[in-house]
Amino acid sequence: MDSSINIILPRFRSLNHLLLLAILSSIYRFTSSSHGGDSPQELRIGFRVVPDPSVSSFQPIITDSTGNYSFGFLRTNGNQLALSVIHAPSSVPVWSENTNPLARWADPTELFFNGSLVLSDSRTGVFWSTATLGDRVWLSTTSNLQIQKLDGGATALWQSFDFPSDTLVENQNFTTSMNLVSSNGLYSMRLGQDFFGLYANFMGSSPGQMYLKHGALEAKADIVDGHPIYLVLKSGGYLGMFQNGSIPVDVESFNSFQQNTSGNLRVRIEPDGNLKGYYWTGSNWVLDYRAISDPCELPSSCGSYGLCTPGKECSCLDNRTADGSGKCASPETPVSGDFCGAYDNRYKVLRRSGVELPFKEYMGYQKMDSLNQCESACEQNCTCWGAVYSNYSGFCYMLAFPIQTLLAVGDDTKMGYFKVREGAGKKGVNEWLGLGLGLLFGAIVIFAGVLGLGWYRRRKRGVKGYLEEDGNVGIGPYKDLGAASFRSIELCEK
Ligand SMILES: *[C@@H]1O[C@H](CO)[C@@H](O)[C@H](O)[C@H]1NC(C)=O
Ligand SMILES: *[C@@H]1O[C@H](CO)[C@@H](O)[C@H](O)[C@H]1NC(C)=O
Ligand SMILES: *[C@@H]1O[C@H](CO)[C@@H](O)[C@H](O)[C@H]1NC(C)=O
Ligand SMILES: *[C@@H]1O[C@H](CO)[C@@H](O)[C@H](O)[C@H]1NC(C)=O
Ligand SMILES: *[C@@H]1O[C@H](CO)[C@@H](O)[C@H](O)[C@H]1NC(C)=O
Ligand SMILES: *[C@@H]1O[C@H](CO)[C@@H](O)[C@H](O)[C@H]1NC(C)=O
Ligand SMILES: *[C@@H]1O[C@H](CO)[C@@H](O)[C@H](O)[C@H]1NC(C)=O
Repeated sequence: MDSSINIILPRFRSLNHLLLLAILSSIYRFTSSSHGGDSPQELRIGFRVVPDPSVSSFQPIITDSTGNYSFGFLRTNGNQLALSVIHAPSSVPVWSENTNPLARWADPTELFFNGSLVLSDSRTGVFWSTATLGDRVWLSTTSNLQIQKLDGGATALWQSFDFPSDTLVENQNFTTSMNLVSSNGLYSMRLGQDFFGLYANFMGSSPGQMYLKHGALEAKADIVDGHPIYLVLKSGGYLGMFQNGSIPVDVESFNSFQQNTSGNLRVRIEPDGNLKGYYWTGSNWVLDYRAISDPCELPSSCGSYGLCTPGKECSCLDNRTADGSGKCASPETPVSGDFCGAYDNRYKVLRRSGVELPFKEYMGYQKMDSLNQCESACEQNCTCWGAVYSNYSGFCYMLAFPIQTLLAVGDDTKMGYFKVREGAGKKGVNEWLGLGLGLLFGAIVIFAGVLGLGWYRRRKRGVKGYLEEDGNVGIGPYKDLGAASFRSIELCEK
């Protein structure tokens, strides 16, 4: 027993040392800034901070003068971090920088300010940098993080408002060069000539499929050709579209329009693709606006190969009722890519009548004489995932992205043809078989090994040297680990 402890302990000892070192160095480096209330209102050149291992969600670095907003490290995926500005009373992020790859919530990740705000890690290098020559980092009372040059006044060299993530706050300008992207990366909002559009990115590539277009319908002023538009969320409770000057060319009003709402407003593009507005009552966020009010009109309300019946009853195109997971696509067949590769071209066909695309008005179509013609056009095109044909109009809509949710309609002359990827499932079975056999074989080998060792041990009874013979266990990686586990089996036997 003793000897095994001696062998294993050095490893733990050095781990403890490392941990202690990490904690000490973070305490040393944090100095004034490790806790919420007392995080500073500005950062000057020379500032550094590392993620605190004891923080489970958000580690504030600077706070605005009202205490309403805080910039800091936001823990994501358990052990990674994003830079984020949160609304402190609710912990809702209003801005995030998710670097690619994400930095780890551990040493040697650090954020420092040397004129640029830089997130880096001595192994991976620089994750993110504002690439500025500023004098201080400052957070406005409206949640705008700025790198400023102090030259009498304060000039912003960089500001988070120019790089929105999924949220716009009150009075933040949204221009044609910007993008709002949902936290799962699937949906985005962009401005066009005279509209804002919502786009789905099911193929993982821009520009994506438009599923909502909001033009300047309620024109308060005329749109002038050639001048870019911009959006601003106004305190009066509306999303205003502006061109030149202060009169909006369009007003998308919230429930709180022209009412006295006490709080701050924000809009966010949600992981389900909807654009929602909220206002802060002082104690919680209240839903104030939805760009899409019918859930069936969302781009993927019931998931891949789902069927949405008005009132949002989800079922599956193949008539299986959506199981507990709410997924219609079988988990072992990836719903991504296309059918063009040599190994990707196997599929079976699923047909369903009484279906329609939720955003067909934004999709291209070809006029065809028959359902057959429409189906074979899709069949012969390896980028086509399916087609929906209307017998009445002769419109054939071909889907160049994996099948999402279809809309159930009473009209059986609207017919759908869908490719369902096949093949990966069968390979999966073989893989499971292989894994099973491998495990069985492994177990037999270990069992035989234990028996053998027991026999060996009994023969060498009294020879103390056995455990110490290779005392350098734990330094070498693989073989020694195996030896160590044999040893613990041996010890258990005692
Ligand atoms: C937060 O913002 C609200 C509304 O803008 C303001 O009334 C309130 O005083 C702020 N909170 C703090 C702690 O200053
Ligand atoms: C700040 O640090 C980054 C990353 O190490 C470096 O690329 C940059 O040149 C530095 N800026 C200044 C002004 O030293
Ligand atoms: C938004 O844009 C308007 C007009 O271009 C400008 O006057 C205003 O300062 C901008 N607001 C912010 C917060 O950048
Ligand atoms: C809205 O609030 C302001 C001050 O908070 C007040 O002066 C104004 O009369 C209110 N308006 C309405 C319509 O309640
Ligand atoms: C599913 O059910 C509907 C109506 O019950 C039927 O018309 C359709 O053929 C069925 N589809 C499949 C793929 O089984
Ligand atoms: C295949 O379908 C896509 C859209 O689904 C279309 O853009 C493309 O032109 C088609 N290719 C051919 C050869 O018809
Ligand atoms: C589609 O239309 C053709 C003629 O326009 C008709 O003969 C056929 O029965 C229709 N098919 C369905 C499924 O309604």
